Amino acid sequence: AHSKGTSLLDPNRIINVAHRGASGYAPEHTMPAYEMGHKTFKADYIEIDLQMTKDGQLIAMHDETVDRTTNGTGAVKDKTLAEIKKLDAGSWFNEANPTLAKKSYVGLKVPTLQEVLSKYGKHANYYIETKSPEVYPGMEQKLLDVLKQNGLSSNKVKSGQVLIQSFSEASLQKVRAIDPNVPLVQLMEANEVKAMTDDRLTAIRQYAVGVGPSFKALTRENVAAIRAHDLLLHPYTVNEKADMVRMLDYGVTGVFTNYADRFNDVVKGL
Ligand code: G3P
Ligand code: CA
Repeated sequence: AHSKGTSLLDPNRIINVAHRGASGYAPEHTMPAYEMGHKTFKADYIEIDLQMTKDGQLIAMHDETVDRTTNGTGAVKDKTLAEIKKLDAGSWFNEANPTLAKKSYVGLKVPTLQEVLSKYGKHANYYIETKSPEVYPGMEQKLLDVLKQNGLSSNKVKSGQVLIQSFSEASLQKVRAIDPNVPLVQLMEANEVKAMTDDRLTAIRQYAVGVGPSFKALTRENVAAIRAHDLLLHPYTVNEKADMVRMLDYGVTGVFTNYADRFNDVVKGL
């Protein structure tokens, strides 16, 4: 059984990551989604994807464009924060999910990283992804600056309170060059998992504490291989209870899920 008193980086602790917040129930990367993930479901982490505005502000958004998750159109990199703040980041969810729609979601704003950190401070744990780092030169420095301004630098937080994840090794290496003590997680698409070698895992372990692979590519065998390299293993995005059970049986150390409540049930054996 996992204990909340155990370090977040302890491989014996099963980690529940609220992927884009409680994004199965509320519009992804909005304050209500984070609040539900953190407070209602008590997930271990709030997951935050980062994009950067034209004026260099880090915002919580998955896509490079605002098209899917707001009422606007166009690339984040071509918009100022003021322009992003005019957009409605909640109505799309109501339209896409009529049974989950809430009036309170209409007109929700895209949060900045700063706003999320201001709200939760040291009371939450953050699993932050540098998205499209090649599109946003300097985003790693900006991220570490914002963390520092909020008292969340690696030397000021409990172990694992802030994890930085990316599909880009180059981006993780940039973070490491600035602060070698931030725990890092290397994300892997399914094809990378299938091409994975022991040499690659050894190399990843030099800079990262864990890997975040697509759960679809995981097998009992490759889970064992990853775990044998002393890497934490948090697959994405595990939304069905049967898959959660199967992943735990293979030996993962946590999951990213849009349904943190379901994963709590599975971990409790419900
Ligand atoms: O960060 C883990 C997982 O979220 C990676 O995929 O596309 O949902 O950010 P994506
Ligand atoms: Ca992500």
